[in-house]
Amino acid sequence: MKVGFIGWRGMVGSVLMDRMASEKDFTQRTYDPVFFSTSQVGQPSPAVIRNLPPLADARDLDALAEMDVIVTCQGGAYTEETYFPLRAAGWDGYWIDAASRLRMEDDAVIVLDPVNRHVIDKALEDGGRTFVGANCTVSLLLMAIQGLLDEDLVEWVSSMTYQAASGGGARHMRELVDGMAVLGAAGTAVEPAAGALELDRVVTETLRSDAFPTQQFLTPLAASLIPWIDRQVENGQTREEWKAMAEANKILGLDAPIPFDGICVRVGAMRCHSQALTIKLKRDVPLEELEHMLNGANSWVGMVLNSPEATRQYLTPAGVSGTLDIPIGRVHKLAMGPMYLGAFTVGDQLLWGAAEPIRRMLRILCQQEPMSG
Ligand code: HSE
Repeated sequence: MKVGFIGWRGMVGSVLMDRMASEKDFTQRTYDPVFFSTSQVGQPSPAVIRNLPPLADARDLDALAEMDVIVTCQGGAYTEETYFPLRAAGWDGYWIDAASRLRMEDDAVIVLDPVNRHVIDKALEDGGRTFVGANCTVSLLLMAIQGLLDEDLVEWVSSMTYQAASGGGARHMRELVDGMAVLGAAGTAVEPAAGALELDRVVTETLRSDAFPTQQFLTPLAASLIPWIDRQVENGQTREEWKAMAEANKILGLDAPIPFDGICVRVGAMRCHSQALTIKLKRDVPLEELEHMLNGANSWVGMVLNSPEATRQYLTPAGVSGTLDIPIGRVHKLAMGPMYLGAFTVGDQLLWGAAEPIRRMLRILCQQEPMSG
């Protein structure tokens, strides 16, 4: 089998390569990897194994058509210009994609195997050829509340998100840090004796100055937040908010859809998305039982004790960043009644939110079963 990799140098692609290296996916592989490039054709491939051919041309449809599997983290525009002509020319290989472009196509399966392995297996049996990673908040949410979904306990979910700069891209992360540096310089120049109101005045003036870096986010993110992600769709939602219900139900393969909705907010975290959840339960189940269901549902989700110490230690982007952990904490019944559960979850949007489901799908296809934990 030949597996072509495209977009392996970008942010999600680099995380995918790192994960494949640490899980020894390349050394234990059952296929020949071929690395493609849109800009550096002919240059050496990454040294994941020895004697790889030079980089192939990612826009050469004939070269792509020789692949049995294509794994792309190159983005939606590349998918648009490559996937459809390849399929139109009769290519029937497996296409595994991190971009959103194909997610809602009828013949595409959204992959999150700890949650929907049954949907993936059924699609493979039925000849499915197109597998796409979900939106990051959707994957992280479903991993976190899988225990309640498995028990058919969820009537609806409202998720208020706190999404990291990395969701916008590499340049957005840089802009956040640049903004922090500008504020840091302005703020530390204020004499400590000047007091908090003077400090705030200088910081706010700096945030509002034309020189403050806002090219990517179009408004300051450091020391602020942005309650808008992606473009506007109908009903007052943003596209990011619309994805929650559309994608979650497609992943779960449910006949009767569960409503998922909320407000998506960009905050000054680097690469962890957090979500504050209100879950309407179908039945009144004691809190202890709910905690038990949540905790064991997959190998990555972990209950965090609803205490200040545990929350500070385990339930923050600073604590979770760079790990595959999906902590869920602050779990308690809300004042609205015994069927309303509050919870908070954090996850790395580049790992379970992007690269990991893609990596695992390739392993499933190549019959290198992904390890459970
Ligand atoms: N759309 C997400 C965000 C990242 O902007 O945070 C990709 O899933």
